[in-house]
Amino acid sequence: MSEIIINGGRVLSGEIDVQGAKNSVLPVLAATIVCPQTCTVHNCPDLSDVETSVKILTGLGCRCKREGNTVTVDSGGLSDYKIPESLMREMRSSVVFLGAVIGRVGKAVISSPGGCELGPRPIDLHLSALCKMGVTITEEHGFLYCEAENGLRGAEINLSFPSVGATENIILAAVTAKGLTVIHNAAKEPEISDLADFLNSAGARIYGCGSDTVYINGVERLHGTEHSIIPDRIAAATYMACAAVTGGKVKLNSIMPSHMMSQLSVFRESGCNIEISGKSLVITAPKVLSRVPTVRSTVYPGFPTDAGPLMIAMLCKAVGTSVFVENIFENRFRYVDELKRLGAKIKTEGKIAVIEGCERLSGAGCKATDLRGGAALVCAGLAASGNTRIGEIHHIERGYDDIVGTLAELGADIKYTAEKE
Ligand code: EPZ
Repeated sequence: MSEIIINGGRVLSGEIDVQGAKNSVLPVLAATIVCPQTCTVHNCPDLSDVETSVKILTGLGCRCKREGNTVTVDSGGLSDYKIPESLMREMRSSVVFLGAVIGRVGKAVISSPGGCELGPRPIDLHLSALCKMGVTITEEHGFLYCEAENGLRGAEINLSFPSVGATENIILAAVTAKGLTVIHNAAKEPEISDLADFLNSAGARIYGCGSDTVYINGVERLHGTEHSIIPDRIAAATYMACAAVTGGKVKLNSIMPSHMMSQLSVFRESGCNIEISGKSLVITAPKVLSRVPTVRSTVYPGFPTDAGPLMIAMLCKAVGTSVFVENIFENRFRYVDELKRLGAKIKTEGKIAVIEGCERLSGAGCKATDLRGGAALVCAGLAASGNTRIGEIHHIERGYDDIVGTLAELGADIKYTAEKE
């Protein structure tokens, strides 16, 4: 299995274009199922999760074509409603195919989704919402058999937690349901607004995305469309943390600064200078990073849980002690033990991580435990003296489009082991 090898200590500089958002392209690709004509999706990052989504679509009878960063899907020939367990297990976002398939054919068979192990990741909010919309769900031998015998009907849904995936699934089932669906306490992440923009351009009638309450007026039928995926705010934060931890100066292009306000303020608090102009920003690291007393992850527009591992990796090199509070997932610190192999001084207790900044990190062998935890190891490896070898990099490849090439472009001494090249 290939590994990533980093010879740390290089100062990053230069400029890059940030990839399209993983957490937007995945629900948008699922949404092509509800549009029974050809949809063209631009700015699709080259990720293994995108490959998995295309495999699911193809398996359901859709015709897919990838040309560079554009994926075209013709779901006119949809001929199945069962998603293979092997593909369901590949990623968390496979669960949003449930809403899309039911939205199109009124039934679906799925198994529990896979994805990063960040603690229990139930889908109770998804299922209870779909039941309110007329779906009956029976579980047998690990599969969920879902059917809306009398068709999907609009419903008033109160989410006990503003779940991103549940909000997406409800929207996908509601766009062609009979009547109005209202989602109270909906998730407000930009990726949900991007999904709604895609669906509305295909003839859907969705209002209120980005606020607590989303309204979906069901329509008879959607049509084909063309859409460009928003920039990935977490990938952007990843490359910013890599620049900051190496004392560098990097320009990021093709970003949406307005999606990153909570993250930018934490980078500034750590002493980084950030200049924004349109869809670009320049981050200049201070000579020495300052500690950030407390960072709390929360739902959008607060600090995103996905940027937590990158922030923790960066603060390993800050002067002083920082505290990170993880409020979204129960067990999102599995990568910390791997960071400690590079000399990081971090203590975790429940949802709290206390990071004692240290002068130097030293390269070591380690393994990615999940997508963003793996990226945190890359970030720390860039600042460590000597060589860092990172194994289990399939986790990282789920969400980053050529992270090795992108960092090498910024001057990092980073490569794959032989098997990958
Ligand atoms: C999405 O996951 C993202 N994944 C995650 O990004 C992100 O961390 C998360 O939203 C929060 O922003 C994709 O979009 C593919 P949730 P999702 O439903 O939809 C609990 C990454 O690194 N919950 O908002 O699974 C759940 O256990 C990934 O790119 C229920 O209890 O997140 C968790 O504690 C990691 N019941 C919390 O809500 C449910 O039915 C947030 O989950 C659903 C969720």
